[in-house]
Parts: sequence; structure tokens; C-alpha cells
Amino acid sequence: MRRLSFIVSTREARKSHIEEGQNIFRSVSTANVKEFLVYRWSPEGNEKPRLQSYLVNLKECGPMVLDALIKIKNEQDPTLTFRRSCREGICGSCSMNIGGANTLACTSRIKEAGKPTKIYPLPHMYVIKDLVTDMSNFYKQYASIQPYLQKSAPLQKTETPQSVENRKKLDGLYECILCACCSTSCPSYWWNPDKYLGPATLLQAYRWIIDSRDEKQKERLKKLEDTFSLYRCHTIMNCAKTCPKGLNPGKAIAEIKKLMVSDKSASA
Ligand code: SF4
Ligand code: SF4
Ligand code: FES
Repeated sequence: MRRLSFIVSTREARKSHIEEGQNIFRSVSTANVKEFLVYRWSPEGNEKPRLQSYLVNLKECGPMVLDALIKIKNEQDPTLTFRRSCREGICGSCSMNIGGANTLACTSRIKEAGKPTKIYPLPHMYVIKDLVTDMSNFYKQYASIQPYLQKSAPLQKTETPQSVENRKKLDGLYECILCACCSTSCPSYWWNPDKYLGPATLLQAYRWIIDSRDEKQKERLKKLEDTFSLYRCHTIMNCAKTCPKGLNPGKAIAEIKKLMVSDKSASA
């Protein structure tokens, strides 16, 4: 797998040097034609990563970037590889870097024709092929925070009620679709993806820490108590800026830090 990096001084970045691809539709030029420059790399063969140019007639295309990618795949290049499922911002699978920002292709409107739009995989991730990145580490970290209800006694097959007020506390957290746009835009996560849990996983950790029905708050906080898992967040806030669901993982991380402090002073 190839790691996509935007940092030019590293060896990985040199390996990921991108060459201008061939534009097979250069001759087409109308006011409705939009150019997409898409990152291409395949593990088969020895080709370097490159940007491939595709021209799309916007009059015959849906309004979103994912519509254009699907049209390109269907009509021009079946080898173009990307993930997608719901097409409505719910599954989180079409996350990629579009025009310099991590976002969802299915909810990103195509910008007007004229200026080309560059599309890359999520940054600082290992690329499996084209726009598809390896999410194994991201999902492993998510699993590590035990994202499910835990009680002191074994869970009964009865409902666990929650007041309207306590349920409201989960707003702004439960909506996370695990697209990884935030984590892959976080400089702290770029440098320590193996040890720092990153904004998405920490937002989810906070979601369970403050769930009134969960009885493992202390244990959950304790698990985050090392120099890397939580404390690598330096409140740069790229995460909140990029989240396509309008969530604020940086704030959730700050809240966990506050709980850490009050938990320590309570047990002192
Ligand atoms: S606020 Fe924290 S998690 Fe968010 S981008 Fe900055 S360092 Fe990363
Ligand atoms: S917090 Fe936002 S950007 Fe991060 S994984 Fe969840 S939905 Fe995606
Ligand atoms: S296809 Fe599901 S979020 Fe874009």
C-alpha cells in the first residue's frame, strides 16, 4: 500500500510524487464542461501516482462530486476506484479530499465549470487503490474505546430508559458517521496515528463517557490516561472545520480533558 502524504520533505512524500496524467478529452471545451483531476494509483504494476484528467458535461450530470465520479466510472473509465454507498451523507464511505478539503463526495456540490477540481484520497492514509484508503487502524482505534453500552452488572433484556434531558446531551455526538474526515485533517493524528486516537474516535469516546445509561465512566476515562491517546490534541481545530456533519470533535476532546481533571480531584 502507498501512503499519501502532503508533506514534501518526507521519504513517503517523494514516493507519492504525483505526475500529471493523460487527458483523453482535451479537445472538448464548452461552458458546461468541468475538468476533474483525480488521484490515480494502483498496486498492480510499477506506475507512480498521477493526477488523471476527466472532463464531464455538467448538463448531463447530477449536482454532487460523487455524481461526477460515478458518471466517469460508468462512461469513461471503469478502472477508477472509490468507495460509496448511501449517496446521502449517512454511511461515511465516500470521504475524500476535494478541492483541498476533507469531505463527503456525495454531499459536495460540484463547483462551477472553468476551474478544475482536484480530488485526492484522505491525506496521510495508506492508499489501497485510487481514492480508496486503508481504514484498518482507524476502525481498530474506534473498537478500542468499546463503543457500546456497559453496565456494572450484565445487561438485562429490558429497556434502559433515559430522560429527555440526558438524551439531549448526546446531540452533536451521535450524528458522527465515522467518515474519518476529521482525523485525517488533524496534524497531531498525522504524526502519531498509531498512538493518538484522533478526533473521530475521541468524539465517540466522549459520546459513551457522558451517556447517562453507561456505568463505566471511570474505566473509560482511565483508559485514555496516557500521554498519547488523548493529550496529543493541541486544539488546532482542523477537525471541527472540516467535519461534513457540522460536529465539533475538538470541543468533545476538551470536555474529556475537563472530566479527567474533575475525576482526579474527586479521587484525590
Ligand atoms: S482540535 Fe485536536 S483533534 Fe482537532 S484537529 Fe486540532 S489537534 Fe486534532
Ligand atoms: S466527527 Fe465528523 S468528520 Fe469526524 S468522523 Fe465524525 S462525522 Fe466524520
Ligand atoms: S455515499 Fe454514504 S456518505 Fe457519501
